[in-house]
Amino acid sequence: MFQPVKIAPSILSADFMNLERDIRMIEQGGAGYVHVDVMDGHFVPNLTIGVPHVKQLKGITELPLDVHLMIANPLEQLPWFIQAGADMITVHEETLEGQWLERAIQMIHDGGAQACVALKPNTPVEVLAQSIAELDMVLVMSVEPGFSGQGYIEGSELKVAQVAQMAKDAGNDGLLIEVDGGIGVKTVERVCAAGADVIVCGNAVYAAEDPQAAIREIEALGNAARLKA
Ligand code: DX5
Ligand code: ZN
Repeated sequence: MFQPVKIAPSILSADFMNLERDIRMIEQGGAGYVHVDVMDGHFVPNLTIGVPHVKQLKGITELPLDVHLMIANPLEQLPWFIQAGADMITVHEETLEGQWLERAIQMIHDGGAQACVALKPNTPVEVLAQSIAELDMVLVMSVEPGFSGQGYIEGSELKVAQVAQMAKDAGNDGLLIEVDGGIGVKTVERVCAAGADVIVCGNAVYAAEDPQAAIREIEALGNAARLKA
């Protein structure tokens, strides 16, 4: 059955002084998730928002909160984010060596959230071999994590296709593939044709003249590319 793509606008590109207005805007525009970029100034150079913001966001929106943890110590902090109301927790594979990745996935599921693992552009998909069967989502980074508004790294869609194949081989038919970084009208088709289900958009939505029209356009292009693939 055809599964339509979902758009996950990143509030990193929203107006923090008018955040509630900017959440309503994407709700009414048909967004599927709110993408929350948590950065700690260690794993990535930038520093953004944290647990109290997630808690307050939970209080004002029914959209699922897709919390992308770009932090050096996810095992310590992920329970706090789940308690604050995160529906989906993404941890970076690069921060979790060996059995700690499995441990993080277990902790996320025990906390009642959905588990996602993110891969930086130079991290090969093979690192997911042991865990892909347990995951709800894999996040393919199509920029180096840390900042919004960067250009899409050419060829990132090949990694999306590799994750899709790996999930199929592992029998995880329900696995979602999310792509994050530099996605907009020019790049959404190739990632959706390769198998992306969830599209993170920062600048392509919030810097657009009409953000709701941008969500609809990106979604329509993504769905058409999926149908053709
Ligand atoms: C980058 C973040 C992204 C970013 C996306 O580290 O994970 O979610 O905000 O922004 P755009 O869509 O502008 O690349
Ligand atoms: Zn992100």
